[in-house]
Amino acid sequence: MTDEAAIRAEGLSKHFGDFVAVADVNLEVGAGEIFGFLGPNGAGKTTTIRMLLGLISPSAGRALLFGKDIRREFKRAIRNVGAFVEGPAFYSFLSGRRNLRLFGTLSGGVSEARIDEVLDWTGLTAPADSRVAGYSQGMRQRLGIALALLEAPRLLILDEPTNGLDPQGTREIRELMGRIRSESGTTILVSSHLLGEMERICDRVAIIAGGTILQQGTLDDVIGRESQRVELDVTPEHGERAIQHLRERFQTDAHSTRRGALEFSRGSLDLAVLNRSLVEAGIDVSGLTPRRRSLEQAFVALTGEHSSIR
Ligand SMILES: Nc1ncnc2c1ncn2[C@@H]1O[C@H](COP(=O)(O)OP(=O)(O)OP(=O)(O)O)[C@@H](O)[C@H]1O
Ligand SMILES: [Mg+2]
Repeated sequence: MTDEAAIRAEGLSKHFGDFVAVADVNLEVGAGEIFGFLGPNGAGKTTTIRMLLGLISPSAGRALLFGKDIRREFKRAIRNVGAFVEGPAFYSFLSGRRNLRLFGTLSGGVSEARIDEVLDWTGLTAPADSRVAGYSQGMRQRLGIALALLEAPRLLILDEPTNGLDPQGTREIRELMGRIRSESGTTILVSSHLLGEMERICDRVAIIAGGTILQQGTLDDVIGRESQRVELDVTPEHGERAIQHLRERFQTDAHSTRRGALEFSRGSLDLAVLNRSLVEAGIDVSGLTPRRRSLEQAFVALTGEHSSIR
């Protein structure tokens, strides 16, 4: 990728005394991507995000946003960036709209039309004029995202935007991210624990644990196609023979599953060839279904003892 990568982190590290919170993190997020930054509690996600945004200085390395160094050219680097880091603080005695207006004024003024627009996007039009004190957690999170969107950023950085939300609220945030990207081409970096959600929306992900990036790439790269499982349904009385056939002819690890189907690793097998061979051996095949590992399974396999998350 060129310098026009929305985010480039080069050897970012952060020490707190002797403790290494982030070690040599390299990230590249292309313009227009939704990029998931995933890792267990204490992995270093927020610390990395703080360095990307220039909120704390790295112990080593550097971060570039749209090719601009966040430390050396802070104003130019941050100009097109909206962020939500660990839940922003709002004035609870003011309405959502007045909070946005106030923060908008601090950053040089934002039109009332834009405020209406971000309230609409985040589903806060109805409660816009009620005090934030009465907002649910989900409404506060959405107000945080509305604030991050206020100045129509080209890059949106969201640190755990679904923290504390119920499944409905979580789904709304996911849909909102999809909409933001598709309607304005905004690049989004989102950190999360919710692997199922991330799997549905991210183009690429990085997995961090213990301050180190364990893997980075497209979902296919990270989940690994070679590790796909295949489920096979055969007539029950052909089960044993099918297992034997798959083991001997195709060197698979075929075995029966609890629900009575058979299962084996796909590796580089051609399923059409395999199907024909079973049928020719007189085994009736009623189903042959490749199953990709979930991101969660890939994550647990990667992070091992770090995997205290879902
Ligand atoms: N200011 C600080 N001083 C000392 N240690 C810190 C500081 N900030 C973070 N840490 C430590 O650095 C590590 C990484 O923290 P960080 O907040 O980046 O993790 P995280 O991946 O965001 O975790 P979570 O999922 O819980 O938000 C943790 O062990 C944390 O205790
Ligand atoms: Mg965090």
